[in-house]
Amino acid sequence: MGIMNTLRCPKCASATVSKTVFRCPSCDGVLEVNVEIGHLKRSDFDAMRRNRDHTIWRWFDFFPVEEVSSIVSLGEGCTPLIHATRLGESVGVPQLYLKNDTVLPTGSLKDRSNSVGISKAKELGFTTATVMSTGNAAASVAAYSAAAGLKSVVMVPAGTAPSKIIQARAYGATVVVIDGDFDYEVAKLYKAAVKEFGWYDCLSSNPYRDEGKKSYAYEFVDQLNERIPDWVIHPTAGGTGIYAMWKGFQEFLSLGWIDRTPKLVASQSAAAAPLVAAFERGLTDIEPVVARDTVAESIQVGNPVSLGWRALAALRESHGTAVALTDPEILEAQSLIGRLAGLFAEPAAATSVAAAKKLREEGVIRADDLVICNLTGHGLKQPDAIKLSREELQPIPPTLEALREHVRNVF
Ligand SMILES: Cc1ncc(COP(=O)(O)O)c(C=O)c1O
Ligand SMILES: [Zn+2]
Repeated sequence: MGIMNTLRCPKCASATVSKTVFRCPSCDGVLEVNVEIGHLKRSDFDAMRRNRDHTIWRWFDFFPVEEVSSIVSLGEGCTPLIHATRLGESVGVPQLYLKNDTVLPTGSLKDRSNSVGISKAKELGFTTATVMSTGNAAASVAAYSAAAGLKSVVMVPAGTAPSKIIQARAYGATVVVIDGDFDYEVAKLYKAAVKEFGWYDCLSSNPYRDEGKKSYAYEFVDQLNERIPDWVIHPTAGGTGIYAMWKGFQEFLSLGWIDRTPKLVASQSAAAAPLVAAFERGLTDIEPVVARDTVAESIQVGNPVSLGWRALAALRESHGTAVALTDPEILEAQSLIGRLAGLFAEPAAATSVAAAKKLREEGVIRADDLVICNLTGHGLKQPDAIKLSREELQPIPPTLEALREHVRNVF
């Protein structure tokens, strides 16, 4: 049984006895759930690592779910941590590791969050879950709701890649495409809908779902056999990944299971980089920006209102940094990941490798540092980011002669 404390406001320390009110009654900040872990022993850690359940649920005691029977799992977690030697050589970081979250059940990191979030929805007795999303969260909420027997309503902005809408629909979600700006108009409607219909909110304003990405930290410690990476770079939009990884590392530190923590880096598209701007200006809170169009469409968020400030604090506490990447830099990284590591990451995910390259060039990352880049979404989520030339699509006659001619041009 996971032992859960009351939800508490990290801003003004107010607590609430309700398990279904996610915002602070005093300051409207997103509440935080703290799971009681003080009783865990080193032997528990060893047992968790030996557990044959290769999902995030081997770390059950760290999640705010009270009963094992509430768990809604599609096999998420324990994704490969790949030592990408050829890619590492190319960017000057021989110890470069890729956390391959493209293989999660719905193809993105959101499954870490929603497995925990929807399990809690089931435990609390909700019947409909909702999310607004640039696409990946929509598919993930839809899939986990389907597995749990909940209805789902997902709101996406007009212009979202059809592949992402199709995926959510395939899982039976009601998809609502909204003709409005994501950060303001869609967000306003979403908030009003949660209030009006009483649906279970699966955004980063849900403290339970935010706990899921702590599993990154646990998996790194396990997979590197307790070596601590020097850097972890995470493609960042709402800030949940940075915030939650930091929390996970702090939990292990407090239990004495690790003795140091990595520096965390948020990688963002230069077209939507409010965290980078706030970090560079030394602010303690985010100043929203108007997100411009970017090839990294999954992280095109200008106002990370719920957890942005906490991610900012995590970057600073970890002595990390935040990096903005241009679209050409992102597409170059996507291509390098494909050609040198054999993985197909969506552009948003490739920002982590683009940031590693940039930080190495600037001398911030040293040649002998161990660096993990999170690959947070599959390239097939947004296939049209790869532009094929007319020649590539031009058929050749089915003869050996034509093939000889063709490969002579290619090699
Ligand atoms: C592919 C991908 N990477 C990264 C993120 C970043 O999310 P967060 O900053 O909340 O961890 C998202 C979602 O917004 C995403 O879809
Ligand atoms: Zn408060």
